[in-house]
Amino acid sequence: MLKSVSLADGELAYFDASHGETSKQSLADNKPIFTLLLVHGFPLTHAMWNTTIRHLQESECYRIGRIRIIAPDLRGYGESLQGAPPRCLEEYADDLSQLLDALSIDEPIVYVGFSMGGYILWPFIQKYAYRLKAIALVDTRAADDSEEARATRLKMANKVEQWGSARVAELMHPKLFLEQHSDLPFVQETLASIASANPKTIAASQTAMASRPNAANLLPTINVPTQVIVGESDLISTVEEMQSMAQAIPVAEFTVIKKAGHMAPVEQPREVAKAILELVQRIEA
Ligand code: MLT
Repeated sequence: MLKSVSLADGELAYFDASHGETSKQSLADNKPIFTLLLVHGFPLTHAMWNTTIRHLQESECYRIGRIRIIAPDLRGYGESLQGAPPRCLEEYADDLSQLLDALSIDEPIVYVGFSMGGYILWPFIQKYAYRLKAIALVDTRAADDSEEARATRLKMANKVEQWGSARVAELMHPKLFLEQHSDLPFVQETLASIASANPKTIAASQTAMASRPNAANLLPTINVPTQVIVGESDLISTVEEMQSMAQAIPVAEFTVIKKAGHMAPVEQPREVAKAILELVQRIEA
């Protein structure tokens, strides 16, 4: 079940998995508890992380209470239906920082950003770098859009209320998953989730993404351990592009997830969880 908190711009729903009793034990032992903040992509919800979360929960560090997992529904998505649609990605970053404040999470977190969730990391770094202990960039980009991509986004933003969100699911489908995964239930679940997204939210996110600046200049400034994770057949954030992002970040490890397209956390959740846990081990060492 999701919990929710009131923020300046409405309520934000979030999934919260912490191992109650053992967390207290871990606190009593004075060991740090890392919060993993899992930020979903466009136009999805926290549910895209469900199976990855299940694998994270099987880990020793979850069982002994060393990690807490928070996965919000960004403003306008899933159960976070209140509040004005954001005008820029910075507003999503502000919501995430306010969520951490509302949950009294003062210690630096592990930010895990998938695709648009990664784009939101860039304004988050600019305003809230002190909140970061480590970063996992999952199937995402630092570059801004080409003129053509920007025009396609703005067309969708203008038309989506007329089209309906099911058309958005149809348009996005070929770029999200490996073709060989087409008949698997997680594909239908993801498409159904997109088809049920609020068209106003889709329009707002597309407009915000279209105006995002190129964030490549931030990569060399990242001074926390970073894991760059990409599906081997990702058509949106390619292996080549993510590898050069990893090379530009001083302390990055690079993981290619086999048998996955853009939706690596959905297509290969066990492998994505493993790469995130490797990052957690690096910061614990
Ligand atoms: C996402 O998965 O968040 C989107 O594909 C990102 C994008 O449209 O660039």
